[in-house]
Amino acid sequence: MTRPRVFLTRRWPAAVEEALAQHFEVVRNLPDRPLTTAELAAAVAEFDAVCPTVTDAVTAEVIGDGSGRARILGNFGVGYNHIDIEAARAAGIAVTNTPHVLTDCTADLALTLMLMLARRAGEGERVVRAGTWSGWNPTQLLGSRLSGKVLGLIGFGRIAQAVARRAHFGFGMRILFHTPRLPLPELSNALGAGACGSVEELLECADFVSLHCPGGAATRHLIDARRLACMRPHAFLINTARGSIVDTDALVAALRDGGIAGAGLDVYEEEPNVPVALKTMDNVVLLPHLGSATVETRNAMGRRVIANLEQFFAGGEPPDRVI
Ligand code: DGY
Repeated sequence: MTRPRVFLTRRWPAAVEEALAQHFEVVRNLPDRPLTTAELAAAVAEFDAVCPTVTDAVTAEVIGDGSGRARILGNFGVGYNHIDIEAARAAGIAVTNTPHVLTDCTADLALTLMLMLARRAGEGERVVRAGTWSGWNPTQLLGSRLSGKVLGLIGFGRIAQAVARRAHFGFGMRILFHTPRLPLPELSNALGAGACGSVEELLECADFVSLHCPGGAATRHLIDARRLACMRPHAFLINTARGSIVDTDALVAALRDGGIAGAGLDVYEEEPNVPVALKTMDNVVLLPHLGSATVETRNAMGRRVIANLEQFFAGGEPPDRVI
């Protein structure tokens, strides 16, 4: 029996590439560079399954009308706003993602950004590396503590809840959250967390604001100039979700004018381009989309894609089917 042909748009960790190759005929994008629309469309035309990542714009043009060979897009990642879901639905192509396995690592990274900002760790490291550190003194690089501060979470799904657990039980922070979803998760009681009726209400009360909603049209520029103006001048904004959620120009203006105290960013509107204005600001911590970047998690993501493809090609229901 011929094995389904699977195309990987980017390289995976070796262990999961090998595991995938045990079940499928696998073709990899060996140079591991982002593919063009035409290259992605060719993959949809020629392979039974295409496994994209967040760096691929899987548009309606890429997906086509369903006359190509692909029957499933096994996304390597939990967020799928880079895939035109309606076009996939219309073309009769299934889409799966990799939830759960990157929750802890992404939450860890949100805390990393909070700590780096509050304790001015990026600034401090730059001083040491530049050789301009003149030694300890009582007023050097004074930051602020996390303990006792208010963390406002926009979105209260798996990752936000993992951040809340760490921040509350680990750092003694008070938790506020805003989510359109009901019922509210059980955890909110255990945390003594407060539900805010609006984004604005949360922004007005929080010392740290962390974004945990999906990307896509519905949340584009959810944090704009008007909402940034609701934040407290000493507050920090953390984004480990999607760059599109924040209006970057408005953020730069708020940081420049002292509207907020700082920002910790792992994601950007036009990755991998990061505006020069952000790179020159000391009150900004910039990471290169590292949320899920641990060996354990990337292997687990690969295993999750493999489980989805196996089920699909065995005629079953993939566990992480989005559509
Ligand atoms: C995701 O899974 O959506 C991350 O942003 C990429 O790992």
